[in-house]
Amino acid sequence: MSDLNALIEEARLAFEQATDPAAVENAKARFMGKTGVITALMKEMSSLSPEQKRSRGAEINVVKQAIEALLNERRQALADAALNAQLAAESIDITLAGRRRGSGGVHPAMKTLERIEQIFSTIGFDVADGPEIETDFHNFTALNTPDNHPARSMHDTFYVEGGHLLRTHTSPMQVRYMQTHQPPIKVIAPGRVYRVDSDATHSPMFHQVEGLWVAQDVSFADLKAVFMDFLQKFFETTELTIRFRPSFFPFTEPSAEIDMAFTSGPNKGKWLEIAGSGQVHPNVLRSVGIDPEQYTGFAFGVGPDRLTMLRYGINDLRLFYENDLRFLKQFA
Ligand code: FA5
Ligand code: MG
Repeated sequence: MSDLNALIEEARLAFEQATDPAAVENAKARFMGKTGVITALMKEMSSLSPEQKRSRGAEINVVKQAIEALLNERRQALADAALNAQLAAESIDITLAGRRRGSGGVHPAMKTLERIEQIFSTIGFDVADGPEIETDFHNFTALNTPDNHPARSMHDTFYVEGGHLLRTHTSPMQVRYMQTHQPPIKVIAPGRVYRVDSDATHSPMFHQVEGLWVAQDVSFADLKAVFMDFLQKFFETTELTIRFRPSFFPFTEPSAEIDMAFTSGPNKGKWLEIAGSGQVHPNVLRSVGIDPEQYTGFAFGVGPDRLTMLRYGINDLRLFYENDLRFLKQFA
């Protein structure tokens, strides 16, 4: 029996030294395989008497079971170790702060456009949208600004092929809207416009909102009342310093530019032009088939980017288009 006990110890040692599943299975073959030690012991029994066979056979069985138990123990231990190693490697540190999705914000120029649309909607103005690539006809000719008119030189822009240009103002929308609608007409048309401009109050791409009200007996006094009402709603105060300054546009008569004084920021107290405006010129009404003896109206083209400057006391309009997040985040 002592030889058999030594065998169990030998197997225990062999399994302990096997540090991966393949080595364990190799060690198993050494004891239990076809050419293994146990199989050899069984074969040796053939020379024994039946009496001896029984007792020796029982002893060998005990050893075999002991070695099998050691084998299974070692297999389990290695499987547990492998699982623990995997769990440790794939573990998630739930104490680590999560990565948040940054919350975006509406660009200040867009916020202003949304506010303007909302204010004019409440007083019955329709909102219309038009092309940024315009025909020379809509941008100038139909607005009483024929070829070679000196007013064209103030609107230098980017010309594309086929008599088209990047619109220099939203006024072409007056023409487009009146071509497709009959008075009474009450509409605003917000959008991007383009000019060869660049300084603290001019950018090459900027926004305008055209306003047009054509009906019976719409006067310059109505323009003033509607525009002042709009400004008071936009700036949420009646304490505004505004002036209507006589000016010239080929498509309005009389015409005025509208200025407003900064109430905050580095430009506090200084004037800033915010809009052009006037009574719609009879020639413009005629060009779209509306009888100027029957209908009158006013129009304006306001610069929302300038309104945003005034609202927040900003001294350089180009900041809106540099996309510096340190600037833009202040409005988020
Ligand atoms: C016009 O564009 C006329 N179409 C306005 C108008 C409409 C007059 C209807 C009469 C009837 P003006 O060039 O002044 O006018 O531009 C109007 C406004 O757009 C300016 O008061 C200003 O607020 C804004 N603006 C003009 N150029 C720029 C620019 N480069 N960058 C930012 N804002 C500008
Ligand atoms: Mg002007």
